[in-house]
Amino acid sequence: MQTGLGISLFALTAAFGSLALAQADAPAKLPSAQERFAACLACHGEGGRSQMPLTPSLAGQRSFYAITQLFLFREGRRSNPLMTAMAKGMSDDDMRAFSGLIAQLPPAPPSDGVGVDAQRMARGASLAEQYRCASCHGADYAGDKQVARLANQREDYLAQALSEFSQGKRLGYTPAMSEALAGMAPQALTDLAYYLANLPAIKP
Ligand code: HEC
Ligand code: HEC
Repeated sequence: MQTGLGISLFALTAAFGSLALAQADAPAKLPSAQERFAACLACHGEGGRSQMPLTPSLAGQRSFYAITQLFLFREGRRSNPLMTAMAKGMSDDDMRAFSGLIAQLPPAPPSDGVGVDAQRMARGASLAEQYRCASCHGADYAGDKQVARLANQREDYLAQALSEFSQGKRLGYTPAMSEALAGMAPQALTDLAYYLANLPAIKP
């Protein structure tokens, strides 16, 4: 893909003499992080709001959370066939630039509650309270620093992430999450995912 872009830039500069002059000091101009970020959003969704199964929305995540996760993927401490392949070749500067771009994407609006199962929501809310999820993730589940935003994340992705943490398949930057889920039943994990994915507006 990069080669293709390289060739078309070359063709452009050859066609426009003035452009060639302007770019004289940067003859092998590579696509910027902003330009390459479009490839990320092909999976993570327009504006970072994912429409793709098991693929998280990135909108609303803090830059520190995003860079930590990119680092974990690159170092092989978090693994996923699609995302590990993306992170493998990233430089520290790439990770910084992508995380900065992620932090600028406004989060999706809260759920309007239409078609949402009130009983499951109540079960999820009481589990979240019992296990003190908000003590780290924030009263509005918007996350902070290295802690993930959870509010209105995709349900399938949340359920998978919780199941991986509880089985010790996803290790995390710290053991915070596996400790938080210790002893929790599988049904509780799916109720929590349902609750967080359908979260109504909550005042922090
Ligand atoms: C081919 C699809 C695909 C592409 C392209 C892709 N990602 Fe991902 N990304 C995923 C999937 C799937 C996951 C979830 C992995 C998992 O379940 O552990 C993920 C996870 C992430 C996460 C962690 C999010 C979280 O909530 O923990 C970040 C950050 C991320 N990607 C950033 C990027 C960036 C930056 C790019 C572009 C350089 C990118 N992704 C390109 C599929 C993709
Ligand atoms: C002691 C602090 C703490 C508590 C309590 C906690 N979390 Fe977390 N959580 C974290 C941190 C930190 C991360 C980032 C994971 C990492 O370190 O890589 C995280 C990540 C997650 C993720 C992954 C998000 C993503 O985008 O991949 C989910 C889902 C999650 N937490 C749900 C919960 C739920 C549900 C509860 C309550 C049962 C909870 N957390 C309690 C600190 C906490």
